[in-house]
Amino acid sequence: MNFTFAASTPQRIEAVAYPIAADGLDAAAGRLPEGASGLVRAAARAARFDGGAASVFETYVGEADAPQRLVLVGIGKGAGADLENAGGALVARLLTSGITSLAVDVSGLNLSDTDLARLLFGMRERAWRIDTYRTRMKDQEKPTLVDIVVVTGGGKAPAGWDRQIGIYEGVALARELVSEPANVLYPESFVERCRPLADLGVEIDVLDEGQMKSLGMGALLGVAQGSVRPPRLLVMRWNGTDDDASTPLCLVGKGVTFDSGGISLKPGAGMEDMKWDMGGAAAVAGTMKALAARKAKAHVVGICGLVENMPDGNAQRPGDVVTSMSGQTIEVINTDAEGRLVLCDALHWAQKTYAPDTILDLATLTGAMIIALGHEHGGVFSNDDALAGSLIDAGLQSGDKLWRLPLSDAYDKLINSPIADMKNVGPRQAGSITAAQFLQRYIEKGVKWAHLDIAGMVWSDKDTPIWAKGATGYGVRLLDRYIADNHEG
Ligand code: BES
Ligand code: MN
Ligand code: ZN
Repeated sequence: MNFTFAASTPQRIEAVAYPIAADGLDAAAGRLPEGASGLVRAAARAARFDGGAASVFETYVGEADAPQRLVLVGIGKGAGADLENAGGALVARLLTSGITSLAVDVSGLNLSDTDLARLLFGMRERAWRIDTYRTRMKDQEKPTLVDIVVVTGGGKAPAGWDRQIGIYEGVALARELVSEPANVLYPESFVERCRPLADLGVEIDVLDEGQMKSLGMGALLGVAQGSVRPPRLLVMRWNGTDDDASTPLCLVGKGVTFDSGGISLKPGAGMEDMKWDMGGAAAVAGTMKALAARKAKAHVVGICGLVENMPDGNAQRPGDVVTSMSGQTIEVINTDAEGRLVLCDALHWAQKTYAPDTILDLATLTGAMIIALGHEHGGVFSNDDALAGSLIDAGLQSGDKLWRLPLSDAYDKLINSPIADMKNVGPRQAGSITAAQFLQRYIEKGVKWAHLDIAGMVWSDKDTPIWAKGATGYGVRLLDRYIADNHEG
């Protein structure tokens, strides 16, 4: 989708869209085409269009031999998420409509640059698709809309538009990684998909199985040992500061490219969902791309623990005891609680290697998180109130919302093991919290840490204004916002 900016509507254009604020139909009278304005507004009112966010009204104006499509899109309060949703709803309506070009007339609307950029960002987001494996698409199903002319008073792109494009690139990468099936996307091919980030200035390092063995990453390797796909630890570093010695923020992602459960095999129904058990790693990779694409003035290291969890003659068994890189031992009660086993070694390695002040991890860690929060909020657990607050705030600003859950010694006790330092599952109750307690045992004194359990967020079973059903790209907008507000400038 290409965006250009013009001071007036081009002569030959297949459709024109007018963003309309809530109850703003009459106020928009003078913005609509002369001669047709009255009828268009009456028709829109008759169709109960009132400018509510993401509502769309479509009609035609002009002569019978030269009809022009006219679209009104509701922008609600005219700010923030309403604009992003409006942009998305507009594209959802027109993407496969047969038209290739669309003017979006925002002249006379008095949108701030930030808000205009957000409207366009929503359009770009909703246009993302993955048609790689669809070889028999009917013409009517294929996207047609490519050229967007944004008509602004000044004819210029809004300040911050390049930045939004960078963030979009990150969201798109995350969605692509989440969408790819596990026969295509496994630890090595995940790494290959991220290698092009080097062209943007991201330093890429990869640890292979042998290196992880030497480092003693027994917890991560225990998960990987049932798969014929060798594991990888992918490290992406972006330093947009002038100071090479600055301490980086560390982001760690769970990258289980397929989670069968291992010997504690999952039930068959819905198991295909577990191709997206690498959504945390995808969010980390997408964020690194966004940061580099928009040249963020921050120093950030993104680390993805990449493994496949499979049952096999060589797979780890329930009851096995593994030794993590930190030296702490773990009784593996349930091989399906594998995410924490991957993360604990990645978290420990990150702290030993970079001595960060702050470390965040993202993971599709527990089904219990979906029971608690559904698909509206990711869960956040933190040892630092200010950090939790900043993340929740970034969530509200970006649209990737978070809700905080507790940690405490009482929960921590629930994962004590009679044979090892800890076991990898607690009782059924508070399953998301005991998973977080497990990770906290790997956080060093003085390090600010937050764990984001995003199990309910990376995949959507239904369309929304900004994504079609499937991968959401959750986490990229959130982390980008958090970094912009807390680690830049
Ligand atoms: N990847 C799953 C969590 C998950 C489940 C994410 C459904 C998204 C949708 C994780 O590895 C897992 O299997 N967790 C278990 C933990 C249990 C064995 C303590 C779970 O949630 O059932
Ligand atoms: Mn699992
Ligand atoms: Zn998992």
